[in-house]
Order: sequence, then C-alpha cells, then structure tokens
Amino acid sequence: MTGPEPWWTDAVVYQVYPRSFADGNGDGVGDLAGIRQHLDHIADLGVDVVWLSPVYRSPQADNGYDISDYEDIDPLFGTIDEFDALLVEVHRRGMKLVMDLVVNHSSDQHPWFQAAKLSRACPKHDWYIWRAPVDGHEPNEWRSAFGGPAWTWDPGTGQYYLHMFTPQQPDLNWDNPDMRAAVHAMMNGWLDRGVDGFRMDVINHIAKDPEALSDGSAAYVMQPRVHDHLQEMHERVFAGRDAMLTVGEMPGVTVQDAALFTDPDRHELDMVFQFEHVGLDHGPTTKFDNRPFDLPVLKASLARWQTALAETGWNSLYLANHDQPRPVSRFGAAAVAATAGAAPPGSGADPFAFRYESATLLATVLHLHRGTPYVYQGDEIGMVNAGFRTIDEYRDIESLNWYRGAVGRGMPVAEALDALAFRSRDNARTPIPWDDSEPAGGFSSTTPWIGMGQGWPAVTVAADRAAGDRSVFAHTRRLIDLRHTSRTVRLGAFELLEADHPSLWAFTRSLPDESEPPLAVVANLSSSALELPEDVGSHLGDLVLGNLGVPETGALRPWEARVHAFG
Ligand code: GLC
Repeated sequence: MTGPEPWWTDAVVYQVYPRSFADGNGDGVGDLAGIRQHLDHIADLGVDVVWLSPVYRSPQADNGYDISDYEDIDPLFGTIDEFDALLVEVHRRGMKLVMDLVVNHSSDQHPWFQAAKLSRACPKHDWYIWRAPVDGHEPNEWRSAFGGPAWTWDPGTGQYYLHMFTPQQPDLNWDNPDMRAAVHAMMNGWLDRGVDGFRMDVINHIAKDPEALSDGSAAYVMQPRVHDHLQEMHERVFAGRDAMLTVGEMPGVTVQDAALFTDPDRHELDMVFQFEHVGLDHGPTTKFDNRPFDLPVLKASLARWQTALAETGWNSLYLANHDQPRPVSRFGAAAVAATAGAAPPGSGADPFAFRYESATLLATVLHLHRGTPYVYQGDEIGMVNAGFRTIDEYRDIESLNWYRGAVGRGMPVAEALDALAFRSRDNARTPIPWDDSEPAGGFSSTTPWIGMGQGWPAVTVAADRAAGDRSVFAHTRRLIDLRHTSRTVRLGAFELLEADHPSLWAFTRSLPDESEPPLAVVANLSSSALELPEDVGSHLGDLVLGNLGVPETGALRPWEARVHAFG
C-alpha cells in the first residue's frame, strides 16, 4: 500500500441485526427506536462504523433480505424520520452508518417485479431474468441456495424466473442498463441523505450466465462482467464522495479475485467478505453436514489471505455475522470439547465452558490480523449459540427448508436438530439480552419474535459490562483501542508461527520501517496449559494485552491469549 492509508485501515465495524438488537415499540421485534436508545453501548465499544442489516420495506420472507421498496423503511422497524434521527445520533457520536445493499435480487412484491410479471412486453420485464421452459422443465438445473430449483414458473408470462435464493427473491438482470441506473439512483439517494457506504449482499452473484448448464456455482458467481458492474457503480455513485466504505459479500470468492476487487487502482470495492474460513467445517454435501474445525487448516486459510492481500487490496476480518453460528460455540472451548470425543460438533458439550476465555481469545486473534475487523452484535459480550431443541423454535427460512428436506429424506429428527443446533443462522439471531429481567431481558416488553436462547439469563450485557477484568466487552474495547493507536496492528506485515501446532495460534506483526517494535500474538486453543515452543517463547517481550491479565508463568493457561512485544 503506497501513499496515505485510507481511513478504514484502522476502523472497526459493528454489525447491527435490527430485528434482534432492541425493541423500542413493544411488538417483540427490534427496531430503529431501540437501536437509537442503545447507541451508547456501541459507541462505548469504540467502533468507527455501524453496519445496519436491512431495514427497508420487505415482506420479511428472508428477514428483510427481500426488499419491496429500496427507498423506504419497513413499518416493522420504524419510519424514514426515525431513520434520519438515528443517523444524526450515530454521526453525533463520531461514527459512520453503512447500509445493507441487496441488489442481486428484490422481493417478488417489489413494484418492479409486479410490473415485470404483467407481460413480456412491459419494459420492466427485462429487469429480471426469464427463460422459456426446456422440454417442459426448468431451463437448467441451477439450485437455489435455500433448497429447490432456482427457477419458478410464472403462468402469466409462460416463463420461468430465476431466483438464487427463495422464490420470493427474484434475481435482477444486471445486463439491463435502466435497471442499473435505477439502482445507482437509489444508492445516491441514501448517500445524499448522509449514509456513509454500503455492505453489498452477495454482490459477486450479480453477473451470471443462465445459458450455462451447471449445478455448481461457477456460472453465477464471478462472471467477469461483475467487475464492469462494480466499476460503473463506483463511477456513478461513489466517485467524488469522501470517506465512504464499501464491502462486498462474496460467497465463493477466491483470493485472486479478491485482489482484483480490492485493488484501489481498479475502483471497485474497498474490501470483500470472503467465505473460505467459514466453510472449513462444512462437510462435502451441505453446510449442515457439520465437521470439527481443524486449527492448522483454519490458521493457514486466514494466513493465506493475509499474505495474498499484503501488497494490493485489503482484508475484512470476521468470524461471525447474522448467517454464521456464534464463534464461542463454533471455535471455542465448547466446540473443541465436543469434537475431542469425536462427537458431532454442537452435541453434548457444556456451552458455557471457558466462555469468557474463548470469546476474548477469538477476538484477540481476529483483531490482531491485518484488515478491518467486524464485530457482530452480541459477540462483544460472548453470546453462545441459541441451543434450540425443537423445530418450532426456529424462524430462519434456510434452516426450516433444510430440516423439512432432510427429515423428508429419512434423516432422524434428533440428528437434524443436532445439525441445526450447531449450524442454523438462528443461533446468532436471538435477541440481545440487555439484562436478566422478564419477559425478554430488556430486549422487549413482550414475547420476542424468536426465543432468547440458552445463554439467557446467565449471559447479559449488564452482567458482562459489570464483570471487571472478566468482561468480554472491556477486552474487545481494549483490542479496538490498540488498533487505533498501533500502526503495527493497523498495517504491520503478518507472519504465521508454528503453523502445524494443533492448539497454538501464534503470529507476528511487524512494520518494515521498524518504527515500532514487532508484536506477537500467542493463543492457546485448548483446555490444558500449553508450554510455548522455545523459538516463540524466548522472544516474547513486554505484555501489551492479555485476556487473563498478567501471566503467572511462561506457559499459556487454558484459552489464554496474549499480545507481546517481540524481539
Ligand atoms: C446474504 C445475506 C443472507 C441472505 C442472502 C440472500 O448471504 O447475508 O442473510 O439470506 O444473502 O439475500
């Protein structure tokens, strides 16, 4: 990276999933008023940016990722005035607000799609992707990410329309210039209103070639035209605006592609969300085919991305979001304990084992990589997976579709529930437990839209913030402060140490100009003490930060993570 570094190279982003953050109007669903009331919680963490998952008008088939009006707020979440009030308060606290942009598809209730369905002659028809039947069937065998064919028959037009997600989420046709212009105008509208950028939902899916016969993702992910679309979007929307943030969600993106998308000279995106590290514990068939994670493989994956984007491009750093299980349950002591006995991930183990240690260790490792860290709501207090034991507790369309299919094909109910308990997106969608009060931990004055999960009432914001030197929040705040003050954390080169070690995650960060001492991170992902290998231990200098306070001996305690000067 040459020249002055962009502002987001020392920024930390906090993701709010509005449904589950705080309910201001007592209907059981989180909303904008609730976010505004609890904004100091986010500001106190010291983050720079708030990313809001979708709050636009939506029939909520996929919790707002199915938008029927890109320019208005869904009444479930509030009003446009309430949005403006929130934006003012975010800015007043010195933070930026990034919106979700969901333009691979709209809702089938969007007036664009309603017009498109009227007739093939309607100009909006071409804003979506339609094909005639082939031999009385779907035009190809593409599958929707949430199960079933990616094509749905529309009797009115006598054609199939494409939807990579649910049938209620028809894919927009990015080959149509009028559609693209409408999207650009909508984006400019939000930026003119004061919004500071976008997190772009499955943005590498926008260019696709439906003539291709492939049931893999090759024909709809990463078609070369996606670069043209992003460059055009940059020119029409972002060029000339200051201090914006753009991050593209890109399932299946390779490190080579990411280097292109985030090369500043190409004017496409600031950073991407890659999926490699969150796919390593998936089995070969579906993401619900859970495998234990293997630390050397996980370390190597993140290290590869560090190296590949060291000279050109930039990484986003995340372990969780609204689509992933909670990190404590997935990579922490609970997950390691379950898999050590060869039990399937998620079954049996105590969900609270070394919870504080696991949460703070994982945060330390993540925040000390090079890139822009993302904190998903609730991870700053060490929330655990929901722990639902019956299918009626689930709300997520992906989870429900998968369960019906799996049980329908003969999977025992208990096995299907085990798989969901580990992998379902609902694990990270339970309400933020502000305190231990009835009926919903201060989240709402009524029964919430989804259960509070097994963590409540033990795990709450109030308890964590009062926990002194065992507060996940306080530790996360220290990590964020460190990024803001240390050029080494912001920009230092990354080197993985002890790559094959099964329970030690160790790496160094160093500035080429040696203007600051190098740092080393050492973390023990096991529930027994770990003697550091000589070549690491003998170079550790002053303690910069640790999750268990001042070390007692050179050895790492169970789930201890430390940052040291290194030399
Ligand atoms: C993205 C979102 C996810 C949504 C999907 C379809 O992956 O993060 O929540 O279901 O896109 O919009």
